[in-house]
Amino acid sequence: MTADTVFPDTALDEARALIDARRYRPALRLLRGDAIPNGLERLHLLGLAHLGRRDAPAAIACLRRVLADRPDDADRLAVLASAHQTDNAPFPAVRWFERAARVAPDHPAFTTALAGALRRDARYGDALILAREALSAGDHSPDIRYEAAMAAAYLGDDAEALGHFDALLADDPEHAAAWFGSHAQALHHHGVDAALRRLRRATRCGGANGKYWGYLAATLRLLGRSAEADAVEAAEIGDNPKRRPLPDGARALLPRFSSDFRLFGNSGRLLRHVLACADTPGLVLEFGVRRGTSLDHIADAAGQEVHGFDSFEGLPEGWVNSPRGVLTTGSQLPPVRGNARLHVGWFEDSLPPFLAAHPGPVRFVNVDSDIYASARTVLTALADRVRPGTVIVFDEYIGNRSWRDDEYRAFQEFAAENAVRYEYFAASPYTKQVAVRVLGIGI
Ligand SMILES: C[S@@+](CC[C@H](N)C(=O)[O-])C[C@H]1O[C@@H](n2cnc3c(N)ncnc32)[C@H](O)[C@@H]1O
Repeated sequence: MTADTVFPDTALDEARALIDARRYRPALRLLRGDAIPNGLERLHLLGLAHLGRRDAPAAIACLRRVLADRPDDADRLAVLASAHQTDNAPFPAVRWFERAARVAPDHPAFTTALAGALRRDARYGDALILAREALSAGDHSPDIRYEAAMAAAYLGDDAEALGHFDALLADDPEHAAAWFGSHAQALHHHGVDAALRRLRRATRCGGANGKYWGYLAATLRLLGRSAEADAVEAAEIGDNPKRRPLPDGARALLPRFSSDFRLFGNSGRLLRHVLACADTPGLVLEFGVRRGTSLDHIADAAGQEVHGFDSFEGLPEGWVNSPRGVLTTGSQLPPVRGNARLHVGWFEDSLPPFLAAHPGPVRFVNVDSDIYASARTVLTALADRVRPGTVIVFDEYIGNRSWRDDEYRAFQEFAAENAVRYEYFAASPYTKQVAVRVLGIGI
């Protein structure tokens, strides 16, 4: 018998009960006091309580000490993985969930959790393979169907995504996230009205995320259905700071709408469409490659050599609630198509020598590096390569709480400093992407 397996201690039971009841603060107080002797179970419960309080570093410190003694305890491996996920670190989360799934291969919850962690680490292909295997092995739980649907959507396969979402919704018609996720994919298959019906349905599910109202208002606004957008804003958004950013972002696009503006729900579809519209010859560039998902769409659709830039070390500074280094691949480079070249390093170091070796204008740029400073670096360096007809896609232009201070601000400054005339010709509230067509530059 070890100290932690059977410890007939009422204080330990009480701490467990508090954690089960999500009363993490009193649980922590109890666990830190003298009533409970040191031991693995105490450490484990401390880890859970810290995790409940979303103090991921403290949880990780406790849980790792437990695992040092119990390296093959699948439940505890999974809890440690969840702590890394909470810490916005999908990279180690995948590693620990992989170990949990290896130790307990017949435990469907670990497979689902691993698929979710792979998705958060942008390894959509691996997530989809795993989810498909679980589905063919007979796991038809809503969670695994959801993972399959989301991974397929990120990979640009909206038909497969919709199939998984619809199967899930047939079993669980109150699954708000599935109605929400499926509305964006349905846009391409069943049209605008069907997409809006799904989005409205998502808002009516019990426990629906209030932000869905923001998506609805923004989508209606971008569709030109202003009276409906106004009604949703008046009834459901008001000055709610969590719901305002998307409708505000959509409004900001209106004065520069192109006559051929199109709405999208799927990132791959938007990228392929705007590349087809980008007919000014020149360089095709992406800034922010990570696992290569968008570069794959770009390389497939561009019909020419394309260049992807990334440190592969994540963001150079913190952003929103994420620390510096978030989105790292651990310096691993993704496999890319034969016509794609990777340029590894910080943009300020990799871009000048690249531009010196590659003269000529820019046809297409995908700015997917999230933060203001990175977008500013890219746009400043490319200023004298931008021509009428150049297309720039921003991946986080609208919708985040800080949108006015991020890519939007970098582009507004760039446009003002270089007298850029432009229009918006594609956008996706769901993915927060916006495509800009340059009409003229300079006076
Ligand atoms: C959101 S991810 C890119 C996602 C990717 N386009 C996809 O399809 O999954 C952002 C990436 O930008 C990179 N990044 C951000 N700022 C950078 C900078 N200044 N220099 C180099 N890489 C940067 C990060 O390393 C990260 O991989």
